Amino acid sequence: MKKSILLILVAFMGFKNYSQGDYIPTASNLEARQWFEDAKFGLFIHWGVYSILGDGEWVMQKQNISKDAYEMLPDFFNPIEFNAEEWVQMAKSAGMKYITITSRHHDGFSMFDSNATDYTIVKRTPYKKDVLKELAEACKKEGIKLFFYYSLLDWNRDDYFPRGRTGTGIMGRKQGKWDSYINFMKAQLTELLTNYGDIGGIWFDGDWDKKTANWHYDEIYKLIHDLQPQCLIGNNHHEAVKKGEDFQMFEKDLPGKSTQNFASKAEDIGNLPKEVCETINGSWGFNLQDRRHKSKKELIQYLINAAGYGSNLLLNVGPMPNGKIQPKHVQSLLEIGDWLKIHGQTIYGTKAGPIPPNTERVSTQKGNTVYLHWLNNQKNIIFIPRFDKKINSIKLFGSNQKLKFKKDDYGLTLKLPESSLDPIDTIIEITLK
Ligand code: GLC
Repeated sequence: MKKSILLILVAFMGFKNYSQGDYIPTASNLEARQWFEDAKFGLFIHWGVYSILGDGEWVMQKQNISKDAYEMLPDFFNPIEFNAEEWVQMAKSAGMKYITITSRHHDGFSMFDSNATDYTIVKRTPYKKDVLKELAEACKKEGIKLFFYYSLLDWNRDDYFPRGRTGTGIMGRKQGKWDSYINFMKAQLTELLTNYGDIGGIWFDGDWDKKTANWHYDEIYKLIHDLQPQCLIGNNHHEAVKKGEDFQMFEKDLPGKSTQNFASKAEDIGNLPKEVCETINGSWGFNLQDRRHKSKKELIQYLINAAGYGSNLLLNVGPMPNGKIQPKHVQSLLEIGDWLKIHGQTIYGTKAGPIPPNTERVSTQKGNTVYLHWLNNQKNIIFIPRFDKKINSIKLFGSNQKLKFKKDDYGLTLKLPESSLDPIDTIIEITLK
């Protein structure tokens, strides 16, 4: 079929027109994107041999641990308390619809069985088991989609050469051939997309280590889509999306914000599904000293905000070296789940609503219904300037209590009963005509 005909067909299928250059996503890919946009909430897991040191996933570079010293870590990695089913159940109870786990992080250690290297959990640790396999099986059983984080950057391999701007103090790295590194990644990605059933997506990271490198994205993205056309590709390069990518990610920032200095600029935001990732405390990998656990209110409001910006939230936990997730974090996840059981309708399956988000409020929308999320309980008079949609009725979410409102050229004014104010989120349901 000619490409132009295919494009027209895709446009008529009722999906958004996501075409990028000559990359034409398949119907199954477009369907997966829609699923992803509706899912809204996922669990990010950073787990590797670094967890033993309790100092985050960057510990190798942070403490300048030489290659040979770091390579002793797998000998001590024996997560006998790991229970894939428990993790998946926990994610489900939190209201999450997918899990994204580190298959190989910047330290170069593979948390799965790989024939492309012997630096793997199966070949180097006393545990010997492929944890991704167990997770894939539990996810399949429980109807949770599984995504793999995959690092482009590698502090261990000699063929990750020329080296990038990080890990320069790590001793023992030799020189090798870049082509061999690219082939290694292709071999591993082939394994990840062949041995673990249907994969929700591949989450690349580390591009920023070598801004001018030729990562062979065309070939790598094609390989992934050839193996599993529905598999969504995202890349944490902090730039506008590139050809072949299926969603856009934002690290520790809502789309358009740049509190981290690396977030995409507002003009880089495209119309692909969006995903914001954030840590439950202040670290990705397990950090023993991290006391910056976010409160129930912060976490739930982050999820609401993400949805108000039309984005998913991928919330991270860093499991401990024994395979357990810190009880405090499990507790926080369950609290979000409890909130979602009651208010999930205003989050799942929504898009960004018509009321521009600010620190007081965001809005989400499903069909004719706009959910105005009034955050922080500041006051019971709400004014939305220049609200020009025609309104049928307004009520408090979850009750039949109609609310009086005034709409004129200046905007929409609403008065809430004082008793309805919720310190986390007061939700007002606006039905449009
Ligand atoms: C950053 C960090 C990396 C982490 C990622 C998650 O890129 O370098 O360690 O995995 O953020 O978003």
